Amino acid sequence: MMDSPRHPFLHGLSKHRGAPPTVVVIFGASGDLTARKLIPAVYNLAHDNLLPADFHLVGFGRKAIPDDEFRGLAAGAIREFSRRELDAGVWERVAARTTYVAGGYDERAAFDRLAAHIAAIERGLGRDLQCLFYISTPPSVFAPILTHLGASGLAARHVHGPLHSKVVIEKPFGRDLVSARGLNRVIGSVFEERQVYRIDHYLGKETVQDLLVQRFANAIFEPLWNRNYIDSVQITVAEDAGVAGRGGYYEQSGALRDMIQNHTMQLLALTAMEPPGSLDPEAIRDEKVKVLNAIQPLGTGPDGDVARAQYAAGMIGGGPVRGYLEEEGIEAGSATETYAALRLSINNWRWQGVPFYLRSGKRLARRVSEIAVNFRRPPGTLFAGETARFDLSGNTLSFQLQPDEGLSMILNTKVPGLETRTQPVKMSFRYATTFGSNTAEAYERLVLDAIVGDGTLFIRGDEAEASWRLYTPVLDAWAGAGRAGMDTYSAGSWGPLGAEALLARHSHVWRQP
Ligand code: BG6
Repeated sequence: MMDSPRHPFLHGLSKHRGAPPTVVVIFGASGDLTARKLIPAVYNLAHDNLLPADFHLVGFGRKAIPDDEFRGLAAGAIREFSRRELDAGVWERVAARTTYVAGGYDERAAFDRLAAHIAAIERGLGRDLQCLFYISTPPSVFAPILTHLGASGLAARHVHGPLHSKVVIEKPFGRDLVSARGLNRVIGSVFEERQVYRIDHYLGKETVQDLLVQRFANAIFEPLWNRNYIDSVQITVAEDAGVAGRGGYYEQSGALRDMIQNHTMQLLALTAMEPPGSLDPEAIRDEKVKVLNAIQPLGTGPDGDVARAQYAAGMIGGGPVRGYLEEEGIEAGSATETYAALRLSINNWRWQGVPFYLRSGKRLARRVSEIAVNFRRPPGTLFAGETARFDLSGNTLSFQLQPDEGLSMILNTKVPGLETRTQPVKMSFRYATTFGSNTAEAYERLVLDAIVGDGTLFIRGDEAEASWRLYTPVLDAWAGAGRAGMDTYSAGSWGPLGAEALLARHSHVWRQP
């Protein structure tokens, strides 16, 4: 990992020196996310010596699993999913402090057993530990887990001191405004907001954090970052993967809930917010909430601000793939969208009249996520007419989140030669080229931040509600319409015609990422 004192976010990596002794308890310990992301994140933090010296890991789940077997599962997860090979020495150190507690999420006695288990670890160590409760279960048991953490006294441990308990809550954070508010109420009855870390793993991505540095540590962007110079912004989170193996979950979710309401809205908030007064987590989150609250309600009628679609059979990577309705676990005649596109209007001084277009979908042409800021064109007095000679494009600044993280800018340039001809060119910066490619994964960053108590890259309760306030009427309209108005697109394409039409109505076209 690079270390430069001038990069504000790299501060985070030295904070571990002050990280309190910690026990991380993972609820949902035998789940998919634990294996794919959480265990590898803990392992890589251990590898980089970023964990506190006194660090314990406790898996909690319904299945009775002996400690040894849990350690074996964890080692298997590292072998399969970690960005680094398993180093036996590193893993031995973590494994020696990894245990498992079996119990029901709705079983009060199980939480008493967990409390006794933690107390026994502390007795063995001869010191108290901070508890970090990581809730990585299906959302149906979020509330019982939170309630039992309260009733068992685990939530309130050391509440006034540096070893106060913390809770990390995985997505989905509610499925509409009412449920998100309800969840916030349950959380608030047990934890203080400063103890709560709502995850959006997109905030852990390197380019997303760099967005703030680019915007506020360079003099050239911010003066132009407004309606006078920016024509439109496009945020794309495209995946080539389908929903294989997750049909049950996805049927209850869809693209708007799964990707737009959370991930793309965080990207929008960081792109559009006002400069915060400091890098203090609350200062940043206050600005994000303000800009989210300035977004106008979305029109859901035929010529409105939203488009949705499902993928039909097509080709991905040279091979045929099934349509959404043919995937396993999908109901016949399902009205779940696998693609959503939207036009958002932010009604504030900076952005009035600048459309923010968002799109996300499964089974698109390729996996790519980017934020593209399109600038207005200069007056066309000089290099005008004669389109054969003067090939000109608007300037676009794009942040590529994945793959191949980087930043690029489209500029118009003179083609070398005696005749004046112009051509757009792309100026690119790639993290991997400049800094090397072994960057930490989003979850490593986020787990470490939660351990050290930095909430900057987590979502505050009011942020989650602001986003749901915008999208709940859209979800209600879609639920009411069933399949009426549902477009389709071929797997492997860039999405449905309805999404093209959404932009065409405002004289824009989607950028080809
Ligand atoms: C998750 C969604 O939040 O993000 C998935 O539930 C999606 O459907 C995933 O595939 C994408 O994350 P990433 O980091 O691979 O872009």
